[in-house]
Amino acid sequence: MQNQTLFAFKALDPANPSGSPAPKPVVQLRAFTRRFSNNTVLDSIDLEIGEGEFVALLGRSGSGKTTILRTLAGLDTVSEGEVKLPSARAVVFQEPRLLPWKRVWNNVLLGLEPKALGGAKAARTLAQKALSEVGLDHRADAWPSTLSGGEAQRAALARALVREPKLLLLDEPFASLDALTRIKMHALVASLWQAHKPAVLMVTHDVDEAIALADRVLILAEGKLIVERRVDLPRKRQPGQPGFAALRRYFLEQLGVEAEDETQQHAVAKEIILGS
Ligand SMILES: Nc1ncnc2c1ncn2[C@@H]1O[C@H](COP(=O)(O)OP(=O)(O)OP(=O)(O)O)[C@@H](O)[C@H]1O
Ligand SMILES: [Mg+2]
Repeated sequence: MQNQTLFAFKALDPANPSGSPAPKPVVQLRAFTRRFSNNTVLDSIDLEIGEGEFVALLGRSGSGKTTILRTLAGLDTVSEGEVKLPSARAVVFQEPRLLPWKRVWNNVLLGLEPKALGGAKAARTLAQKALSEVGLDHRADAWPSTLSGGEAQRAALARALVREPKLLLLDEPFASLDALTRIKMHALVASLWQAHKPAVLMVTHDVDEAIALADRVLILAEGKLIVERRVDLPRKRQPGQPGFAALRRYFLEQLGVEAEDETQQHAVAKEIILGS
């Protein structure tokens, strides 16, 4: 059985040395270690996520990002260290994981008892409302196989939303989408987050995505959180705004990736957006 309890306490936020009041933590990992046989993937990790805080987690493939996320989702066992989580949690994975034999609105309600939601009619209304928040109410009766990749991820987001999570976990949710759809999904996630204010942990490989959305960015390497940096840029964030490029360079350097030539990046972006 997992070591999880609801909790309330005041803590210092190491990424917020300014002294402004840290939000109450909804997640706390203390000396959390995860091994698979003799492979230590996470090595005594300490992590707190505040109420309503948006945290992005970067790291190379195999560094243990999904392992952390699965722990925060309550999907993995905790045998070393302490893990405290809120009970209302929801996860969106890279693939939407919709059941093909259930219509979209039924997928949104998956695992929820209509009775507990006030009956069948109220449940349907709830699903419809969540779908409308992600711009998909017109596809409520569709089968999942008829949705585009972006629409399917919207349905997965609606399924997460309907649970009113205190903690929303996103594991590379936009990785399989094309660049333009991804940008639209960023705007959607930002507005859903502003409206519902869950704490978010978003795993991503995309440094720009992390800077665009997060209050704080973490980098995981060799079992440790080697970077924990607040992003203080004003929202709505754009790659061209002052400070964005410097942060991108910093994170890429920490990831051990050479920043691409920026002129080349702009050329690629122009090509994607203008088709030229
Ligand atoms: N159930 C498991 N059994 C054995 N090893 C595992 C298991 N789950 C994960 N691992 C190992 O733990 C390490 C971290 O895996 P994890 O999936 O967390 O990486 P990741 O950072 O999410 O990678 P990616 O970016 O490719 O998704 C990998 O070496 C992986 O092989
Ligand atoms: Mg992963």
